[in-house]
Amino acid sequence: MAAIYSLFLFFFIITLLIILALIVRPISVKIPIKSRHVFITGGSSGIGLALAHRAAAEGARVSILARSTDKLDEAKRSVQLATGIEVATFSADVRDFDAVSKAVDESGPIDVLIVNQGVFIGKELEKQSHEEVKLMIDVNLVGSFNVIIAALPAMKASREGRGPASISLVSSQAGRYLRLHCIFSEQVWALGISTSVAARSYF
Ligand SMILES: NC(=O)c1ccc[n+]([C@@H]2O[C@H](COP(=O)([O-])OP(=O)(O)OC[C@H]3O[C@@H](n4cnc5c(N)ncnc54)[C@H](OP(=O)(O)O)[C@@H]3O)[C@@H](O)[C@H]2O)c1
Repeated sequence: MAAIYSLFLFFFIITLLIILALIVRPISVKIPIKSRHVFITGGSSGIGLALAHRAAAEGARVSILARSTDKLDEAKRSVQLATGIEVATFSADVRDFDAVSKAVDESGPIDVLIVNQGVFIGKELEKQSHEEVKLMIDVNLVGSFNVIIAALPAMKASREGRGPASISLVSSQAGRYLRLHCIFSEQVWALGISTSVAARSYF
């Protein structure tokens, strides 16, 4: 009798865990970007530029933000050459909230915000200077909040007939799993936790 009871309990717990896993699993949602405004920070090179190419090729209205105007111009040329689409460029440092706000306002209401800018100085903590630590936290973590806080009011206010809005944060697996470079890992981790809390409270 005790064996049957234990077996029943075992299967009951397993079933409960499976149901829980199904309830809390992340559900992927496809957000169409054709004719919608995609705003990409750090869009002048690397992953951000690749995303700008892809979004333009799919018919989105694309804006890119970074600091160097030369790199922005070069990025704009490359997207135009590849897709025929003219992206809007904005020169601003994400650490400067006023400059980011101005760029976001000028660009018009955003449908898809991709917060992708990032700097990475890969060192062990004892070899990292205070300036390097501050730079990574300011650009990668505080800068990301600056961008989201600047964009969010208009993203929320103008949804009528515009479909869902979305915010993507580009970070690194180094922060989630590898945890090799202490400061980079910690701020990537912090970014993930705090922005998921922020995102939940807004959308
Ligand atoms: N590449 C990888 O292997 C890799 C792996 C994992 C995660 N990631 C993440 O992916 C993202 C993009 O990486 P990536 O390698 O493609 O970068 P990247 O080629 O170095 O490009 C960085 C972009 O961010 C801009 N940027 C840097 N500092 C900025 C600031 N203070 N204000 C505004 N813009 C700034 C840069 O332009 P300006 O310098 O002109 O401002 C550039 O457009 C980052 O968040 C990174 O952590 C990259």
